[in-house]
Amino acid sequence: MRRLLFSLVVLAGCGGGPAASVEAEEVTPESAAAPAKADPPGTYMGRELADTMSHLGADWLTRAERDAEEDTTLMHAQLGLQPGDVVCDIGAGNGYHTLRMAKAVGDAGKAIGVDLQPQMLALLRERAATEGIGNVETILATADDPKLPPETCDLILLVDVYHELSDPAAVLGHLSRALDSGGRIALLEYRAEDPDVPIKRLHKMSKAQILAEFGANSLRLESEFDGLPWQHMMFFVPG
Ligand SMILES: C[S@@+](CC[C@H](N)C(=O)[O-])C[C@H]1O[C@@H](n2cnc3c(N)ncnc32)[C@H](O)[C@@H]1O
Repeated sequence: MRRLLFSLVVLAGCGGGPAASVEAEEVTPESAAAPAKADPPGTYMGRELADTMSHLGADWLTRAERDAEEDTTLMHAQLGLQPGDVVCDIGAGNGYHTLRMAKAVGDAGKAIGVDLQPQMLALLRERAATEGIGNVETILATADDPKLPPETCDLILLVDVYHELSDPAAVLGHLSRALDSGGRIALLEYRAEDPDVPIKRLHKMSKAQILAEFGANSLRLESEFDGLPWQHMMFFVPG
């Protein structure tokens, strides 16, 4: 597993503050079509991978101003969840999105929170118990495997985690297999193209880079929503 950073998690943790010093060359869809070369350690398709956000900063994920900053209410409205759906939250952290999705799918459905850090999953379960939400499961992932059963999920959500996966290709392969028929992957990443998004460079991604990386793993863009204040919101399906 990649080194866990003691990220201070005001905007610092997930990335506020000065840009990191190492510049990785971004990949365009054209260059992604070139013959594959081995990725230098700590990079994927020309992108420098970010470190894992530590559970010690989990409070930042549930900060009071998050809805106002990221318009998570508008974001959840785009997910199109139905009662009875099975939803998976990859890199769930302390469950900010997991619990909201659990309420949306109701007792006929369930929300599965997946994370690398047992401490994050413990916080998630504690929050679910406090709120009396029973339709939540947790799975402890490894860096290259979310350990989801095949053909399970109607929706797989990744918010602010993809950029810190240490083995993105392996994880995307597992996610494709975990989708039920008609299932979709919803990806949210802070916009690298927008200097006004107050997040460190390695914790942001450009649309071109996302499309290149997902395309290289047989995932195609199905739709997208450009109305969030800070993030790209893109839906992918196998194919
Ligand atoms: C910045 S937090 C985002 C948490 C949550 N998605 C949210 O928006 O509130 C990223 C989380 O992804 C987790 N993570 C990193 N790599 C992972 C992997 N390969 N599999 C599962 N979780 C991972 C980290 O442990 C951390 O809890």
